[in-house]
Amino acid sequence: MKSSFRAPSNIALVKYWGKYGVQLPSNPSVSFTLDVCATETTLELTEAAGVSVALDGVDTPSFVPKVAQFVERIADRHPWILRFGLRVNTHNTFPHSSGIASSASGMSALALCVVDLAAKLGHEVADPRQEASVLARLGSGSACRSVYGGLVVWGETPSVDGSSQDFGVPYADAVHEVFRTYRDTVALVDVGQKAVSSTAGHQLMEAHPFREQRFAQAHAHLAALKPILAAGDLDAFMELVELEALTLHGLMMSSHPSYILMRPNTLHIIEAIRTYRRESGVPVSFTLDAGANVHILYPAAFEQTARSFVENQVKPWCKDGRTIADRVGQGPVSLQQ
Ligand code: DP6
Repeated sequence: MKSSFRAPSNIALVKYWGKYGVQLPSNPSVSFTLDVCATETTLELTEAAGVSVALDGVDTPSFVPKVAQFVERIADRHPWILRFGLRVNTHNTFPHSSGIASSASGMSALALCVVDLAAKLGHEVADPRQEASVLARLGSGSACRSVYGGLVVWGETPSVDGSSQDFGVPYADAVHEVFRTYRDTVALVDVGQKAVSSTAGHQLMEAHPFREQRFAQAHAHLAALKPILAAGDLDAFMELVELEALTLHGLMMSSHPSYILMRPNTLHIIEAIRTYRRESGVPVSFTLDAGANVHILYPAAFEQTARSFVENQVKPWCKDGRTIADRVGQGPVSLQQ
């Protein structure tokens, strides 16, 4: 018996940074689910015990511990899974060497397969998407937001009805048309392994001198985004999203021990974006994840102009001139024939 899903990656606008307990977020976050950057996974239940993982058809034992830990964490909710061996076959649509985290799309795809198989085996699941989000979260926090398309909130916060610590929820308040087709061109600056993992970064928030202010700020930013998203206020959107990105990296730089994930070319690209925006008035902005790459965000209506800006002024700072043109997407799809 098997199940196959394609799940996209996501990029946070308000960042999840800090966690406690079993993968519970210290602050609320909201992200755009992407479209092009995705993972396609087939999960097969086998008679023989044990876990095997193949990446692009090639046996990849280094992925086994992550999947085994996932199974351990979800076994309370899905004890049936322990009766089977698991064969995972996975493929990323973005280049493996792009430095783009595949944990959000990968864990989301895997969780969707598990919930689908639970249903096929006759186990009752009240809300399959929500259950997949819970399981994805247990695999990797940000993955819980990838089970829905568009804007997705994770972490309980007063300004978002229905928001939860346990799973992501589709953002249900008013959203201006402009944000439904937003573009994200990823500028690939550093394609290697990150010097400090996100997991280690989250841990450093535990004793961070600014932790309480930061967690309060994230709640305030979620609340502030509400009227911005409803009105399509691009200036306020860009201001808030860039502040979040720089705050994330500011927290890394002020952790103990301190560390820097931006590279010199990250700053060159940020400078180019801000100068271009100031001089041309084109609403191009940036965000960052926990790495050196820059996500360049802009409305679909500015696609042509923004693309030539990227071509002329961003690509020279990218590793081998590489970028990935992505956009807000509709969420996961089943790949079952
Ligand atoms: C900076 O979800 O990768 O991208 O829960 O330890 O797997 P784990 O961490 P992860 O952290 C992502 C952090 C971030 C911000 C975000 O996506 O909200």
